[in-house]
Amino acid sequence: MFQTVALVGATGAVGRIMRQLLEERDFPAREFRFLASARSAGTTLTFKGKQYTVEELRKDVFAGVDLVISTTPDDTARDFLPAAVEAGATVIDESGYWRMNESVALVIPEVNPQAALDAQGIIASPNCSTTQMVMALKPLHDAARVRRVVVSTYQATSGAGVQGNADLTDGTRAHLEGQPYDYQAFSHPIAFNCIPQIGREKEEGYTSEEMKMVYETRKILGDDSILVSPTCVRIPVANCHSESIIVETEQPVSPEDARRLFEEFPGITVVDDLANGAYPLPSTCDGSDEVFIGRIRRDLSHPNGLNFWCVSDNLRKGAATNAVQIAELLAKHRSAATA
Ligand SMILES: NC(=O)c1ccc[n+]([C@@H]2O[C@H](COP(=O)([O-])OP(=O)(O)OC[C@H]3O[C@@H](n4cnc5c(N)ncnc54)[C@H](OP(=O)(O)O)[C@@H]3O)[C@@H](O)[C@H]2O)c1
Repeated sequence: MFQTVALVGATGAVGRIMRQLLEERDFPAREFRFLASARSAGTTLTFKGKQYTVEELRKDVFAGVDLVISTTPDDTARDFLPAAVEAGATVIDESGYWRMNESVALVIPEVNPQAALDAQGIIASPNCSTTQMVMALKPLHDAARVRRVVVSTYQATSGAGVQGNADLTDGTRAHLEGQPYDYQAFSHPIAFNCIPQIGREKEEGYTSEEMKMVYETRKILGDDSILVSPTCVRIPVANCHSESIIVETEQPVSPEDARRLFEEFPGITVVDDLANGAYPLPSTCDGSDEVFIGRIRRDLSHPNGLNFWCVSDNLRKGAATNAVQIAELLAKHRSAATA
């Protein structure tokens, strides 16, 4: 059990869901603290029926904290989390800053839990679009070794935080009323549109979001030979990322075998009945901690290819749920070690 848990970024889109999860799942700790930027410091929030004042994040706030769960922009994670480690805390970070650092474990509890248990200091939770894809790849990789993945994402505006959803709602209203709207989170209008750029230009014509899917997948699955070709697209859906995933495996996997492998994997739910119009939708997956898979079919262009559709709540399994599951794994391990 942890004594004092600090939730950093507690006021954000992911932080809000983390608070809900820590409450609903009755996370074991004696004390909780909630931190954010100077903008929110002094505001109050309710957790487990008790009022808390949000504290301003500073480097000297971590004394006595043994677990930090952090969900801030990258530069905040870069600037403040080393101070938490120095103060002796275990740190779970949802930002992109530390994920590819060699000394940092990148963990999905259903996929590589041991990496969290072996870690010292910061444990990173993957990018949302990576997490749901790697959840789907893991059972296929174990059964038939994944060689190549072609993925196209259809990503929700909540992936760009509180401001992303404000832009969707206010931009749509302005569009319908024929008014101008100044988008803050997106470089083009998201209302009645889709934007084939998430993140900045990174390398070889790919964006930073796309390259996260390449590098993080290899790191989590521990296999640098896996080839990933991603296209990440923002669409005007408030929550839940969807992905069209085409996988080439070393051994052929039939759609029937893939369905069974997915069904047996913890955290995956198969919804796959095209004849009756049943497949995962953002509207039906919203609020769930599962990764949903449907439209499982043969890739007509390759004998060892499989084609499927994958939807998951990016704020939950793509972010908050995964981080809280890591915390639960560590708490359970601690309790077992001290029993
Ligand atoms: N949204 C997703 O689907 C998703 C999925 C996976 C990973 N992530 C990652 O999770 C992180 C948070 O994303 P989000 O969508 O929750 O963003 P968000 O809604 O913009 O929330 C950001 C949080 O960070 C806090 N913050 C910002 N600057 C800070 C500073 N200088 N010092 C202390 N706190 C600061 C904010 O506090 P204030 O309220 O005081 O500004 C807020 O609590 C990002 O790194 C993002 O890439 C997001």
